Amino acid sequence: MPSFILNERLIHTDERPGMVLLEFVRDVTCLSGTKEACREGECGACTVLVGTRQADGGVAYKACASCLLPIGDVDGCHVVTVEGLSGESLTLVQQLIVEHSASQCGFCTPGIVLSLTGFCLGSPKLSYDDAIDALDGNICRCTGYVSIRNAARALCERLAGAAADPAQRLAALVAAGVVPGYFGAIPEQLAQLHAAPAQAVQGAVLVAGGTDLFAQRPEQLLESDLCFLSARCDLDYIRVDGEVLRVGGAVTIEDFRRSEPVRKHFPGLPEDLLRHSSTILRNKATLTGNVVNASPIGDATIILLALDAKLVIETAGGARREVRLENFFQAYKKVDLACGELVSEIVIPLLPAGARYHFEKVSNRAMLDIAAVNSALRLTSAPDGSIADLRISAGGVGPVPFLLGGLEAFRGKKLTPETVDAIAKSAESAAKPIDDIRGAAAYKKLLLGQLMRAHFAPAVVEAV
Ligand SMILES: Cc1cc2nc3c(=O)[nH]c(=O)nc-3n(C[C@H](O)[C@H](O)[C@H](O)COP(=O)(O)OP(=O)(O)OC[C@H]3O[C@@H](n4cnc5c(N)ncnc54)[C@H](O)[C@@H]3O)c2cc1C
Ligand code: FES
Ligand code: FES
Repeated sequence: MPSFILNERLIHTDERPGMVLLEFVRDVTCLSGTKEACREGECGACTVLVGTRQADGGVAYKACASCLLPIGDVDGCHVVTVEGLSGESLTLVQQLIVEHSASQCGFCTPGIVLSLTGFCLGSPKLSYDDAIDALDGNICRCTGYVSIRNAARALCERLAGAAADPAQRLAALVAAGVVPGYFGAIPEQLAQLHAAPAQAVQGAVLVAGGTDLFAQRPEQLLESDLCFLSARCDLDYIRVDGEVLRVGGAVTIEDFRRSEPVRKHFPGLPEDLLRHSSTILRNKATLTGNVVNASPIGDATIILLALDAKLVIETAGGARREVRLENFFQAYKKVDLACGELVSEIVIPLLPAGARYHFEKVSNRAMLDIAAVNSALRLTSAPDGSIADLRISAGGVGPVPFLLGGLEAFRGKKLTPETVDAIAKSAESAAKPIDDIRGAAAYKKLLLGQLMRAHFAPAVVEAV
């Protein structure tokens, strides 16, 4: 039976764990401030905050799409809807939205308020750029983004200097009127609300972030037994271990993107992952979900393939085995994972000396869109500038995400325009795309060739 705090109210519910939070807050508790529009994670109208108790006793809040979030996954959490923010008066975020005329029909506004409030609570820096990134999953169809951005800018100005110390952030936000005072008591209340220990049910569907599962088959999941990866706190870690980065199976894409080791060892990757869905999805979606999902165009998967990642797989009996990611995909949506097994860790080699990584994605919309074709590269150069090692992955051009073969032939070659042209031609001939809504096969083949040229553009310029 899921138990959580909804705004200021303690909830114990008999509803099925697979009921999505959007439906629960609107239809069961009659809180209609959270809006329902796409129900597919695309628009942000249903954004809520989910606060999770941390090891240090504090609560970390993240904005999430409630249309893809089953209530079983907020067991033991603090859920905040727009009704839980404003009491007698408007919050600072709401006031600034009014002052800057950043709302017309108002349908998107609760979601925007929650995303900006989540930014205030969780962003390491309260910078304007980060505020705008926090809104990347919130679509507004009528106001126009200029006034929304103006409200966000004013918010950052008003909070400048407030709570540089993360430990004081919540108190500073209460004082500034961003969140109500009752937030201060939530850590204590959550400590008393013990989340039910996960019951292992044979045949239960493993839900990681649920962003793919609940977009694809919510009705079926409502009736299914579910098992939540978020309950595996032991799989929520990112650490450097010698020459590799170890990422626990429960790590979300946003936590991975923001983590210190990723910023330090894989420059460029945090920015690239901003093109993976949106903040409200990345706050729940996991790297392992992206891999096991086995979409031929999974962005994180394509990056991990080029980086030569390995998966640690935990069997039902607790044994472990390892699989190189390039051997994991067997056919369209078929992977090397038996029933009851789970991916408990992703192991990513740090970039060798002289290596650089690069990612390219082409989609119909620049942001918030699945790729038509994507590709990543890991290029290691010899001291004389020639190619020492080359790995290139490609997505959207075959039934599985794959690594281009035959690239050893380019070892020792200088990065001239002729070499790049030859690599592009070899990629085009390896591609076996099909016509679909993201583009015709011939277009995708051509696109992959162009992505090869884009990968090498800076290196070729440096080398000439
Ligand atoms: C609006 C929208 C936009 C999106 N945009 C993008 C995008 O830009 N790029 C992109 O690549 N994807 C995108 N996606 C797809 C999806 O969000 C991602 O693939 C995401 O990473 C899936 O992770 P998850 O944790 O939510 O997976 P879930 O939905 O929880 O799980 C997916 C599958 O993997 C299995 N699974 C999950 N974790 C494990 C594990 N550790 N061990 C074994 N099995 C496991 C689950 O049982 C399930 O079968 C988008 C989805 C939506 C709805
Ligand atoms: S209703 Fe559109 S993201 Fe949830
Ligand atoms: S105010 Fe109408 S959709 Fe944003």
